[in-house]
Amino acid sequence: MSTAISPANGRSLIDGGEYRLTGEDFRQISAMIYADAGIAMPDHKATLVYSRLAKRLRALGLRNFSQYCELVSSAEGSDERQEMLAALTTNVTRFYREPHHFEHLRTQILPPLIASARKGGRVRLWSSACSSGQEPYSIALTVLSLLPDAAQRDIRILATDIDPNMIATGKAGLYDKNAIEPVPPDLRQRWFSPADGDRGMVRIAEQARALVEFRRLNLIGDWPMQGRFHAIFCRNVAIYFDDPTQGAIWSRMVPLLDPAGALYIGHSERVSGPAERLLRSDGITTYRPLVGKETRR
Ligand SMILES: C[S@@+](CC[C@H](N)C(=O)[O-])C[C@H]1O[C@@H](n2cnc3c(N)ncnc32)[C@H](O)[C@@H]1O
Repeated sequence: MSTAISPANGRSLIDGGEYRLTGEDFRQISAMIYADAGIAMPDHKATLVYSRLAKRLRALGLRNFSQYCELVSSAEGSDERQEMLAALTTNVTRFYREPHHFEHLRTQILPPLIASARKGGRVRLWSSACSSGQEPYSIALTVLSLLPDAAQRDIRILATDIDPNMIATGKAGLYDKNAIEPVPPDLRQRWFSPADGDRGMVRIAEQARALVEFRRLNLIGDWPMQGRFHAIFCRNVAIYFDDPTQGAIWSRMVPLLDPAGALYIGHSERVSGPAERLLRSDGITTYRPLVGKETRR
């Protein structure tokens, strides 16, 4: 497979492989993924687009990317457009990824909330690009480590992602047993059990699943939630967006944060745009709202 040629001129961008991806095909695919998900696809992602979508062309028996573009641009191709989106999003995640966030949640955010929940108070947490569920379940396990009967209290974790396949995987709560190695041993032992009939698979306990509500949500679309969150995890998704999209998302998140809440972002991300003046750093990639007079101008 060879890559060459300016993608803007419609000539072959990737050729010599099974299919030909022209500059015009790439431009169309990038425009669709940007419009649908806010994901920016610069030219150097052409090889990634080729390798992830070649499987779809093969499954559909198409001859080239131009046919694929025609399909996903048409009304009949709306299901395939979803498949395209799923193929082009990166879903890498793991339990307790960036563990300092869960430590901060456990020690700085949850203690007063747990005390309030014991007396009937409401606690709301949001994992806003939850992928296959490891992030919201790590939040759930952190809650359970402090309050084993959390599912009987008014504590809920909203877990959202654009990809319905990820939502389905999260809901199932079934993981390879090697995937739970980063979970602290006491929590691993208490809240996972071997899945019936699935050798090497484990299922997270009902008490953890009951805390998490999985929903499909596009971060560049409408957010129907009402009420504030005591913690928002928005990690390792903004890196796929351009600067204006990132700034807009941070600005929409700040008003949804409880004044005593925290926003956790990915290790290579930073809060930018107007939201920067409304938040203060409280540790590695951890932000708290500035309140009242604290607000920076
Ligand atoms: C790399 S994963 C990050 C998962 C998790 N937050 C973590 O840090 O481990 C990125 C996730 O963002 C989701 N995503 C991409 N664009 C999105 C959008 N516009 N709205 C909601 N989720 C999106 C993808 O489907 C994917 O599951």
